[in-house]
Amino acid sequence: MCPASSLPEQRPEKKDFILMAVSQPLLSLDWDPVAAEALLREVFGIVVDEVIWKGTSATEKVCEWKEPEELKQLLDLELQSQGESQEQILERCRAVIRYSVKTCHPRFFNQLFSGLDPHALAGRIVTESLNTSQYTYEIAPVFVLMEEEVLKKLRALVGWSSGDGVFCPGGSIANMYAMNLARYQRYPDCKQRGLQALPPLALFTTEECHYSIKKGAAFLGLGTDSVRVVKADERGKMIPEDLERQICLAKAEGAVPFLVSATSGTTVLGAFDPLEAVADVCQRHGLWLHVDAAWGGSALLSQTHRHLLDGIHRADSVAWNPHKLLAAGLQCSALLLRDTTNLLKHCHGSQASYLFQQDKFYDVALDTGDKVVQCGRRVDCLKLWLMWKAQGGQGLERRVDQAFALARYLVEEMKKREGFELVMEPEFVNVCFWFLPPSLRGEQKSLDYSERLAKVAPVLKERMVKEGSMMIGYQPHGTRGNFFRMIVANPALTQADMRFLLDELERLGQDL
Ligand SMILES: Cc1ncc(COP(=O)(O)O)c(C=O)c1O
Repeated sequence: MCPASSLPEQRPEKKDFILMAVSQPLLSLDWDPVAAEALLREVFGIVVDEVIWKGTSATEKVCEWKEPEELKQLLDLELQSQGESQEQILERCRAVIRYSVKTCHPRFFNQLFSGLDPHALAGRIVTESLNTSQYTYEIAPVFVLMEEEVLKKLRALVGWSSGDGVFCPGGSIANMYAMNLARYQRYPDCKQRGLQALPPLALFTTEECHYSIKKGAAFLGLGTDSVRVVKADERGKMIPEDLERQICLAKAEGAVPFLVSATSGTTVLGAFDPLEAVADVCQRHGLWLHVDAAWGGSALLSQTHRHLLDGIHRADSVAWNPHKLLAAGLQCSALLLRDTTNLLKHCHGSQASYLFQQDKFYDVALDTGDKVVQCGRRVDCLKLWLMWKAQGGQGLERRVDQAFALARYLVEEMKKREGFELVMEPEFVNVCFWFLPPSLRGEQKSLDYSERLAKVAPVLKERMVKEGSMMIGYQPHGTRGNFFRMIVANPALTQADMRFLLDELERLGQDL
């Protein structure tokens, strides 16, 4: 940070601002750049100390658990009519950080995102500071051009030399857009006439898909019954023969199949659907193929692992979240399209004349805001662009390869210890396993074994969160009782962190 003495001499004094405020009533009395700078330097200092240093240090806690009532008291949440001093505000910032979960911590394994990339964070800070909306070239010239360049790069990794796309507020919305586009392409009338323009529709996905597919079907008025569940094999991959069977069944029942949503990197098991075979089925039946690669899309950066998504170039749309495995920061979620007919704009556009004037002095095709159902839209491209500039594609590829390698290391370490049982050999960076506490070892044949095993993960989760030593997710899944889902995503992880996870579970569960 530059010292205050190096600031330009012509900087207005606080008293000048008070005078300006009096003589120019439209100037906000709140706006004092000197005080703003002092505040922001302090806040940034706190962020550097408390988030960037302590938040990423293995010797600090990953979370500071408080019961909700106590937390409410500690945070003093109620908003008052009187403003507070800068010191109080800084103390509030410290408290917010203290009681928040440190998702950048090397023991945060709970979600599909984790870690802190400094360049991506720099991009997020610049984005927040500029506070613009992505809808027109007029107010976001840099970001309109940048978004297109980033999307082009992501499309190229999918295997497309042309196409369209947009950054969305999350993978769930990207999935929903894909459904809406597939429906609109087949029944353009529904934009005006709504659901009455439609026959009963059917879309296909497996039980392993993300829950946003069913939510999207409900939100779009298709109804969750329109989602036909295709069988997955024991590894969680769609069975293409069953897809074909379900499509024929839906047709026989009078429904009109219109979309298949395959998943590349399922949320729990990390499974990749066989895209070539699924694309063959879609081609035979003339169906839109959407690939939800929100989680697994980043494997496309790796020469070694991109084969998991073989066939993705045959999709009509792809959802891909660089905020997950690439650690770009929330949110960074792209919807990519093979379409070159401006389908996004036709489907969602509304030509608001106050925003998208057609007689502007520049190419109005650069006003991309009508591609989406939002009006204001966050800038989500800069964090990824800046990180990519700093890392290069090669750096990002290394990041992906390292995550795969560490997941493999963890699996091998687990196999050396008696208290761990894999749900299955992972093919991605989701490592699903049961921890068997001492009392359950060798008890596999007892009648209540599964029931007792299912109770282990919730107890250990409570203990780790209350101690603040680590965070890892668990869930029941199909007929399987609760098991842990370890996610290896934080680029700062090492083999020592993998061993810590195992040691810590053994420590927390030694008395069970
Ligand atoms: C496979 C898959 N698709 C979509 C999503 C939803 O992404 P978002 O949380 O950005 O809405 C997730 C989230 O974990 C996911 O795992």
